[in-house]
Amino acid sequence: MYTAPSILSLDYTKFAEQVAELNECADWLHFDVMDGHFVPNLTFGPDILKAFCRTSPLFKDVHLMVSDPAFFTPVFAKAGAEGITFHYEAVEEAKQSELIEAIHELGCKAGISIKPGTEPEVLEAVLDKVDLVLVMSVEPGFGGQSFIPSSYDKIRKLAKRRKEKGYSYLIEVDGGVSDQNAAELLKCGCDVLVAGSYVFKGNIKERVASLRQE
Ligand code: DX5
Ligand code: ZN
Repeated sequence: MYTAPSILSLDYTKFAEQVAELNECADWLHFDVMDGHFVPNLTFGPDILKAFCRTSPLFKDVHLMVSDPAFFTPVFAKAGAEGITFHYEAVEEAKQSELIEAIHELGCKAGISIKPGTEPEVLEAVLDKVDLVLVMSVEPGFGGQSFIPSSYDKIRKLAKRRKEKGYSYLIEVDGGVSDQNAAELLKCGCDVLVAGSYVFKGNIKERVASLRQE
């Protein structure tokens, strides 16, 4: 399993110190990019990602909560993204395979994400193409929300489908993740745990270690 702290909740007055701590204990860095249109919040652009690329070797996992992911994929790929995940709800189905291909051509892993109100079955046409499926376990837009329990079943369904069809996508979960639900999430078949407020509201190393449940 991979831990992916969300830098949405990092204390930017302690940037260098917290990144150094993350480098010692986490696997990925999760970048919650928000455009103030797809979600009612605005976060950061490619220059912040570049700052993390200069200070961390961890896998750069970019989560695009934007209305025009086709525009932003080259922008973040150039800034150092290694994985780029767009939202199913932001791209018409007929254009999703093309965007996945474009992300691959930029040398990045391609992910697709579904909001809490979207069922995993809608992803059927792209499951053989993506490297990652991101299940949002809160309404996208803000850290610190409560985990939505119906997310467990979505993960089970995606893990079952992956096994049935021999697909290879990773399953990632994002929103309200903590030591209270990490074990159950991993049991359901999740591979990557994103956590923002849980990690940064305590001792980073201890909190990240508590997600591993190893
Ligand atoms: C929501 C964000 C958050 C963030 C994690 O749009 O994607 O889910 O990554 O936030 P916490 O772990 O604080 O719920
Ligand atoms: Zn996210």
